Amino acid sequence: MNAPPPLSELLARASAAPGALSAPELARLVSLEAPEDRAALRSAAHAVKLRVSGARVFLRGLLEIGNVCAKNCLYCGLRRDNAAVRRYAIPEDDVVQMALAVHSAGYGSVVLQSGEIESEANTERIERIVRAIRSGTSPDFAIVLSLGEQTDEVFARWREAGADRYLLRIECANSRLYRAIHPEGHSWERRRDCLLALRRLGYQLGTGVMFGLPGETPEDLASDIRFFRDIGADMIGMGPFVPNPETPMAGAPFDPAAALELALDMVAATRLHLHDCNIAATTALQVLAPDGRERAILAGANVMMPNATDLKYRRDYQLYKGKPCLDEDAGRCRACLSARVARIGEAIAWGNPGTPPHYLARTSK
Ligand code: 5AD
Ligand code: SF4
Ligand code: FES
Repeated sequence: MNAPPPLSELLARASAAPGALSAPELARLVSLEAPEDRAALRSAAHAVKLRVSGARVFLRGLLEIGNVCAKNCLYCGLRRDNAAVRRYAIPEDDVVQMALAVHSAGYGSVVLQSGEIESEANTERIERIVRAIRSGTSPDFAIVLSLGEQTDEVFARWREAGADRYLLRIECANSRLYRAIHPEGHSWERRRDCLLALRRLGYQLGTGVMFGLPGETPEDLASDIRFFRDIGADMIGMGPFVPNPETPMAGAPFDPAAALELALDMVAATRLHLHDCNIAATTALQVLAPDGRERAILAGANVMMPNATDLKYRRDYQLYKGKPCLDEDAGRCRACLSARVARIGEAIAWGNPGTPPHYLARTSK
């Protein structure tokens, strides 16, 4: 066997063009140990981010519009069997008002997120909400849905109503690992088929994973990153798995410091392999370290997703414990985010939806 190429050669090749890394090379990138190697990985990824997206950060206002969920994912605090959660669904008019406030606050997009509900009543509720937001905002304001698995027909109706983007994490690309963290009846294949349908319907497609799952290997992480590229994702949102005490996976091992380091390496390796997609510096990173999101920007992320849900609902939407900004309203987060982003030498792209170049490239062909 030849000796593996030096890290610098790998990083140069990955920076030159997307899709340049093999699975073993990606696995190597997400299992570096020396601090100087990890720093080199992250700074190469940040350089690619600067080239494709500029020294700016796009904001998506997150609205957690309901926490009722029909699913029972073994890791999630909102799972059906968690009786400790007080369930809510924000009234339609309030959701629309909050979304219009997100638009007026200068955020380029709004995300409507909830647990998974498959019913005609819910489908119509979302249709009405999306229509009302669409008619009350500028045409380039992006409406993003994150409402779980649905039939192709439902996805099509919501797209017709005016939704631009859909976020649905595959959670892990390895279907065997997926089965280990979900009960009977949850299907990796259906989730993948949902992603394919969303893409076909012309949505800007977002997916992502959790990492640090029990039994996961660097090869699994490499296949997550290759999955993003193969499925044609325009946007990626990933975060560490944080064991939630109210779930069956409460006792899983968890090391916050290691989780943050892995998160930054995953962001960096994803940027190096995909180049022109959006990558979120997710809120879960802020749980691990106060400056976790800024560090993710410096490792290649280009989107932040501040919570814009009315404070009275926010405590009831806890996928994991230790959720940040429980008492900060949009105004306070706005000032805080501007300062945080300025401190790392970048600026918030106010009013810009941040449409991923990857989407523009694939739809202009
Ligand atoms: N730790 C980290 N992320 C979680 N999610 C759900 N539960 C957890 C947890 N315990 C993530 C899933 C889901 C998203 C909405 O929240 O990836 O897709
Ligand atoms: Fe429901 Fe999503 Fe939580 Fe699974 S991860 S239980 S689908 S809210
Ligand atoms: Fe919410 Fe800092 S981002 S207070």
